[in-house]
Amino acid sequence: ETVILAYSGGLDTSCILKWLLDQKYEVICVLADVGQKEDFVAAEKKALKIGAKKVIVSDVKRSFVEDYIWPAVQMGLVYEERYLLGTSLARPCISVALMEAARQCGAKYLAHGATGKGNDQVRFELCAYALQPDLKIIAPWRNEEFCRRFQGRQDLIAYAQEHGIEVSAKPATPWSTDANILHISYESGILEDPNTVAPSSLYELTVDPLTQAPSQPTRLTIEFRKGLPTSVKNLSNGQVFIQPLEILNFLNELGGSYGIGRIDIVENRYVGLKSRGVYETPGGNILFTAHQDLEVFALDREVLRTKQILRDRMTDYVYNGFWFSPEAIYVRKCIELAEEKVSGQVTVELAPGYCRAIARKAAENVGALYNEELVSMDVHGDYVPQDAGGFIAINAVRIREHVRAFGPYKIP
Ligand code: ARG
Ligand code: SIN
Repeated sequence: ETVILAYSGGLDTSCILKWLLDQKYEVICVLADVGQKEDFVAAEKKALKIGAKKVIVSDVKRSFVEDYIWPAVQMGLVYEERYLLGTSLARPCISVALMEAARQCGAKYLAHGATGKGNDQVRFELCAYALQPDLKIIAPWRNEEFCRRFQGRQDLIAYAQEHGIEVSAKPATPWSTDANILHISYESGILEDPNTVAPSSLYELTVDPLTQAPSQPTRLTIEFRKGLPTSVKNLSNGQVFIQPLEILNFLNELGGSYGIGRIDIVENRYVGLKSRGVYETPGGNILFTAHQDLEVFALDREVLRTKQILRDRMTDYVYNGFWFSPEAIYVRKCIELAEEKVSGQVTVELAPGYCRAIARKAAENVGALYNEELVSMDVHGDYVPQDAGGFIAINAVRIREHVRAFGPYKIP
C-alpha cells in the first residue's frame, strides 16, 4: 500500500519514514515549502536514501500567503487575545498539498508526525478527511508499538544511527519549533515550565527590542481593499511593495529588526491541555495592527460588534482544525460582507518592540462613516446637542430605579 508521509526532513519524520518502510508500506514523502528555512534538496536526498519511493517538494508559499494569511488578516483572527495562528493556518494549506499528492499517486493512506497530545494531529486529519473523505490515517505517535519503541529523543537518535539516517550535526535545541513565513513557534522542552523565561538565544526572527532595535522609528503606509492588504509603502525611502509574498517578507524583515511581534503565552489546546508557547510574528503583528485600526474607523459600530463575535468563532474554527467546514465557510462569507467597507490606508509607526497606528484615511470614492463635520466641536451639522439630554434621561431611568429598589450604590 502507498502512504503519503508529511515529511519535514527532521529526525522524527525520518524515523517514521523508516518505520513505515519496515511495516511494508511504499512511502511517498511530501515536503511543503511554507517559507521555513530548510535545505529542501538535502531533505529530498535524505528521504530517498532512507528508502522513500518518491519525494515531492511542494512550494505552497504563495497560496499560504494569499489564501490563508491574507484572509486571516482580513478577518482579524487572533486566538486567546494574542496568538496570530501561524501554525494553525499552515495546516490546511499543507493538507491541500498532501491530498493533491495522494490523488496523483493513488495513495489511500496519510501518515504524519504530530503527537497524540497536540492540535496538529486534529488539524491534519480533519483537513485531510474534508479533502478526501475515504482516506486512512497513520499516526505513529498514537501507535502503541511505535511509542513503546521510541520513548524519547535518545531512542530516535539510536534508531537513526542504526539505520544510517543522518542526524543533524547541530545540537538540538531544548525546545521544538514550527516555522513558516508567518511565524516561528517554540514549545516543549525547557519551555514546559511556564515560569522559566525563554533564553534570548531562542529568538530567530526578531532582535531584542531593548538592546538591538534602532532608536529611530520607521513609518509605513499600509493600504487595504475590502480588508485585504494591497500595498505597503516605506515612508523613509519611498519603497513600495504590492505582491502579498513580498509585502510579508518585507514586513517580517523590518518588523524583526525592531523586535516586533514576540509573544510568550500559555494557551488552551483543543484537546483540553494547556500549553506554553513562544511565538515570533513580526510582519503579521504589523498587518494585524493596521487592519484593526482601519476596521474600527470604517465599520458601523454594531456591524463591528457582530463581526467581532464572528471573528472569535472563526478563530476557534481555525485553531481547532475546522478550516474546511460548513461553519467556517459560512462565517467567512459574513465577515467578508462587513469587510467590503474596509478600504483605505493606515500609517503605522514601528518602534522598538511595538507597532502602532498613527494616521488613517478612507479610500477615495468609497464613502466613509467618519464625518469630520459631524464630530467637530466647532460646527453643529445635523447633530442636535439638545437631543442628547433626552437620550441621557431615558438611559438614566434604569440607573435611578436601581437606587429606588435597592438603596444607594455602594462606592468601593
Ligand atoms: N501551539 C501552536 C498551535 O497549536 C503551535 C503548534 C506548533 N506545532 C508544532 N508541530 N511544533 O497552533
Ligand atoms: C504536536 O503535538 O505534534 C505539536 C504541538 C501541537 O500540535 O499542538
